Amino acid sequence: MLFDLQQILELADAKKIAVGAFNVNTLQGVQAVLEAAEELKQPVILQFAPVHGAFIDLDILGPIMVDLAEKAQVPVCVHLDHGEELSILHQALEIGFTSVMYDGSMLPYEENVAYTRLAVDMAAEYGASVEAEIGAMGREEFSSLGESGEAEALSSTYTDPDQAEEFVDETGVDALACSFGTVHGLYLTEPCLDFERIKEIRDKIGIPIVMHGGSGVSDEDFRKCIENGVRKINYYTYMAKAGGEYVKEMLSKSEGPAFFHDISVWGKEAMKEDIKKAIKVFSNL
Ligand code: 13P
Repeated sequence: MLFDLQQILELADAKKIAVGAFNVNTLQGVQAVLEAAEELKQPVILQFAPVHGAFIDLDILGPIMVDLAEKAQVPVCVHLDHGEELSILHQALEIGFTSVMYDGSMLPYEENVAYTRLAVDMAAEYGASVEAEIGAMGREEFSSLGESGEAEALSSTYTDPDQAEEFVDETGVDALACSFGTVHGLYLTEPCLDFERIKEIRDKIGIPIVMHGGSGVSDEDFRKCIENGVRKINYYTYMAKAGGEYVKEMLSKSEGPAFFHDISVWGKEAMKEDIKKAIKVFSNL
């Protein structure tokens, strides 16, 4: 059943859990996420990041995401991740996405506010929710301590709690992605998270906080983040790696010809198991 982001995060808030938001770029990814959520009877967020347009077009996978989410036995929000242009938000909303992220975190603050407001107005016409971001998360594989190995390198980009409060007041977004020590992709050293900052931001903004870069965070750190106000956790790299590694293992064991239909099923099953592990932690199961 289709939920928007605000509705699904209200469910999470009531139970003091976080909803997993898994990026998908194949049909097997969509199936893995929905099957995992249904088996555990937990709400879930299916999301598409435009950077994955290199693998499949939003116009092809998006309608499949919406259709399967509608038919799912659990609440599912279909979300656009890291939309940097209003045109891609519009495309996702036309397809039927129930939530969009406008990512203006790389823009000067005032411009980020102005474009995020436009995104909120646009999404309102479709009855959809909006996530936005201030502070910057690393985009590539690099250490949580910054490329130079110094903690200051990344912490200088952490979300400022006062600015977060002003941003939410000025834009009316439903959830805010904040920077507090996570990075996208693989960590090169142990992530070192600023839990106090999460709590301070949450107390000031009063809406759910989104964690990006969930892969590689320990179960204990996930729990602490959730205790302090994180309600949506974006997770991709480890599930994709789980699928790929399992395919590699199966291929190395098999002696006959390799068939792609087998590869796609192995990949899906291994991704599903990894997603289930993550959902169990996020839902405190
Ligand atoms: P990971 O790939 O590091 O899990 O992060 C996913 C993400 O934050 C997508 O926005």
